Amino acid sequence: ANTVVTIPIVFHVLYKNANQNISDAQIQSQIDVLNKDFRKLNTDFNTVVPNAFKPLAADVEILFCKATKKPDGTATTGITRKSVPNTFDFFNEYFTASGQLSWDNTKYLNIWIGDAGGTNLLGLHSPADDADGVAISHQAFGTSGTALSPFRKGRTTTHEIGHYFGLNHPFGDGNCKLSGEGDRVADTPATKQPYYGCPTFPNNDINYVCEVSTNGAMFMNYMEYVNDACMAFFTLGQKEIMRNSLAGPRLSLLS
Ligand code: ARG
Ligand code: ZN
Ligand code: CA
Repeated sequence: ANTVVTIPIVFHVLYKNANQNISDAQIQSQIDVLNKDFRKLNTDFNTVVPNAFKPLAADVEILFCKATKKPDGTATTGITRKSVPNTFDFFNEYFTASGQLSWDNTKYLNIWIGDAGGTNLLGLHSPADDADGVAISHQAFGTSGTALSPFRKGRTTTHEIGHYFGLNHPFGDGNCKLSGEGDRVADTPATKQPYYGCPTFPNNDINYVCEVSTNGAMFMNYMEYVNDACMAFFTLGQKEIMRNSLAGPRLSLLS
């Protein structure tokens, strides 16, 4: 058995106008979502996850909090805020000096929040040194303020933190493992491409599933691309990868 661990997060808000300078309350709403989703305490679990998949669902035993100390040991709210010009390209520049340099990413999970601009991106995870952490559109962040339906339940950040702890999408490289290793998770059925919207269970659309089965695709997994309201769990196999990350490359977050 694992023990419940708590990950300190520093939130970097990069705003072009007052609207994008999201409130502390919107940030707290995102923390509240993470602390439910990673502990299988989300109230939509029962209705969104089909009974057939419930035995595979995991309490990942990870909690999240705002950092209380800066790298130099002095006190912090765990939130930085910076005004950026209208030309700022959030998803490409968030981690640079024109955005906000990361705080020691061996000690903190850095989350940048900003304006997706013309892109359709909701969020991304980068493992690259300077960019290590996740970047999220303010319109897909938390459950209040500037967040917009159908991405107003905080699941973009849940999904990107899944990547941060080593998860891939159930569709892996999109080729039914023929040219790669898929998501390396045995209990997520392999698929060919992401599901969007809000599909109906069971789904065995041959354009999506690699193999027809009784339960079909696990499109309601957090690592899918469906609407926030239609994804509601991580599996035991996904938990194993995330906990191995915390016992290995991400161990320093816990000290
Ligand atoms: N990387 C994906 C994207 O930006 C995230 C999908 C998150 N899905 C969601 N329902 N919040 O498109
Ligand atoms: Zn993803
Ligand atoms: Ca799989």
